[in-house]
Amino acid sequence: MQIHEKYIVLAKEVYKMVEKNVEVPKVLKTDCFNEGANYAPIANLFEDAYCVDVDNELVNKAKKAFPDLKCFVGDIRELPFDDEIFDVIIDCSTIDHVPDFEKVIIEYNRVLRKDGICLICTWVSLEKLTEDTKKWNKENQYFHYLYDFVNYLQFHFKILKEGEIYTDRKCDVKTDNFGKNMYYFILKKGGYKKNGVGVFRNKKI
Ligand SMILES: C[S@@+](CC[C@H](N)C(=O)[O-])C[C@H]1O[C@@H](n2cnc3c(N)ncnc32)[C@H](O)[C@@H]1O
Repeated sequence: MQIHEKYIVLAKEVYKMVEKNVEVPKVLKTDCFNEGANYAPIANLFEDAYCVDVDNELVNKAKKAFPDLKCFVGDIRELPFDDEIFDVIIDCSTIDHVPDFEKVIIEYNRVLRKDGICLICTWVSLEKLTEDTKKWNKENQYFHYLYDFVNYLQFHFKILKEGEIYTDRKCDVKTDNFGKNMYYFILKKGGYKKNGVGVFRNKKI
């Protein structure tokens, strides 16, 4: 399965999870990249869809192509939205475009409603990274170390479901010597942060 098809399958799964509780979910789909293949089908699943991208040109293009989408220029580390307004957040490989994923997780937690669901699909490394190996220069992407990523997620969110995304795109499998994989996480609010003690997969650290 192509990676974008998998994103759509996951977005549909999230849609099913929220449709029981909310009649018209308000959805934030991050980034306006790859029009048609990614954000449009996902946004089209939802009636009330917002997109945010740092790239002004991509936002303008998206606005023209899909007038019903509410597209904003903005940084996922500092979202231009009020607290607790979205029922769903869908991030398909936007978070791996920033070095400081922690800021993004805090922002997603801030703008998500109490019973909201957040989907994050991201490249991770199964091995600890150095400043040199962290950045994939070609696409200006950053690979987050899975252990740190999951641990930080669990401070803010409860992980409802997670898994590896296997894809037939050549560069999406373990192609290099430090093991980068695409993972997805379906999250709801409510982390395990208790008394300042972190947990990783229910083990104290
Ligand atoms: C390569 S694309 C992500 C992959 C894409 N979702 C796909 O399906 O292939 C990266 C997108 O994230 C946007 N982006 C990068 N950094 C961002 C940030 N800090 N906040 C919002 N959007 C960002 C870029 O402008 C670009 O549209």
